[in-house]
Amino acid sequence: METSSGVNKIQANLTDVYSVVIEIHSLIRARFPDPTEGIPRGVQANTSEAASLQYVPAPPRLYGRDIVVRAAAGKICDAQQRHIALLGTGGIGKTSVALGVVDDLGVKGQNDCYFVRCDTVISDLTLVASILQAMEKNSSDNGDPMKNLKTCLEAASRPIVLVLDNFESPWSLDTPNIQPRLTEVLRTLAAIPKLQLIVTMRGNAPPADGDVPWSVMHLDPLGHIPARELFLSIKPDTSPSEFKDLDLLLQKCDGLPLAIKLLALLKSSSTCGRLLKQWEKQKTSLLKTNHPSESRETSMRVSISMSLQSAPMRRHPDAIPLLAVICRLPDGILGGVEQLEEMDLGFDDVDEALATVLGSGLAFKAEN
Ligand SMILES: Nc1ncnc2c1ncn2[C@@H]1O[C@H](COP(=O)(O)OP(=O)(O)OP(=O)(O)O)[C@@H](O)[C@H]1O
Ligand SMILES: [Mg+2]
Repeated sequence: METSSGVNKIQANLTDVYSVVIEIHSLIRARFPDPTEGIPRGVQANTSEAASLQYVPAPPRLYGRDIVVRAAAGKICDAQQRHIALLGTGGIGKTSVALGVVDDLGVKGQNDCYFVRCDTVISDLTLVASILQAMEKNSSDNGDPMKNLKTCLEAASRPIVLVLDNFESPWSLDTPNIQPRLTEVLRTLAAIPKLQLIVTMRGNAPPADGDVPWSVMHLDPLGHIPARELFLSIKPDTSPSEFKDLDLLLQKCDGLPLAIKLLALLKSSSTCGRLLKQWEKQKTSLLKTNHPSESRETSMRVSISMSLQSAPMRRHPDAIPLLAVICRLPDGILGGVEQLEEMDLGFDDVDEALATVLGSGLAFKAEN
């Protein structure tokens, strides 16, 4: 009992110290703004390396991802050819981390980087066309676009890093034979010696597993401190007297950067206490901006429903009922699939239903 009250006291003291640090930090930022802020970066952004091509958007300022970005950049820069699969739930920051990796000085110094959004890719042919387009190459030079792409990549004078973003979109389409066809493209790309792939994908398994030797990296939720830093980077005027309510709000976000960002954007004319009350009523439907067209970036509901409506979730009759059960367990399923079996939920194949939910990125296996 004594130990626990001691720990509580230390925790309270740490929260106070942290509040003061945040206040000092925002005073320093107000007085000495970051000189690089506001300088547009993005396409062909790398000015320090004249020969380097950076056909990628600029990354957001990332909180709590230094270790994973450094680890992935280290893999890209070491002598061995590596292909990285960044996996995790929707809105956890896979695209942002991929952008952080190709923004790394070592990575962009040694490689030409290209970024391909795959959310509108509907076949192997459109994937190849999108890559050629990202490289500003003409796809009609040759009868076979894949051959054309391979020739372009093999002829490149510098090593290439190719980011295929949101690969779950084409991978989970209902089109017959889509996975073998996409596997063939990935296998061919992965075998080109000077090329390294970074694929981002919702879920827990990389595409073309077994055909491409992936370095798999799972993104975990943000810890409490980076979650707070992210919120306060968007709303630096949050008063320390609101920090208790802020911490309660952040607990509701489960370390999901998209949720934290949307929540912070909602705070413009409100307080954290008021937001907390709104949350109790509206839950995740609260999390959207008032942007006229809703998207995975501006609405938590849209982001979640993209995974809910994926072909594997629609195909498996028990997947959504199982997800509903998991959502009602505040601590998740600590006992794994055995716990679900013991609960005798009446599903035909609980293993397969769980694999579908995990594979669609609607739940994740925690490290511990
Ligand atoms: N570590 C972070 N620090 C600051 N902002 C972040 C971080 N991670 C993600 N974000 C922000 O959260 C939002 C969602 O991130 P992102 O698009 O990278 O997620 P995602 O996992 O790729 O989502 P999806 O599965 O929908 O593709 C973005 O607006 C991004 O700027
Ligand atoms: Mg993404």
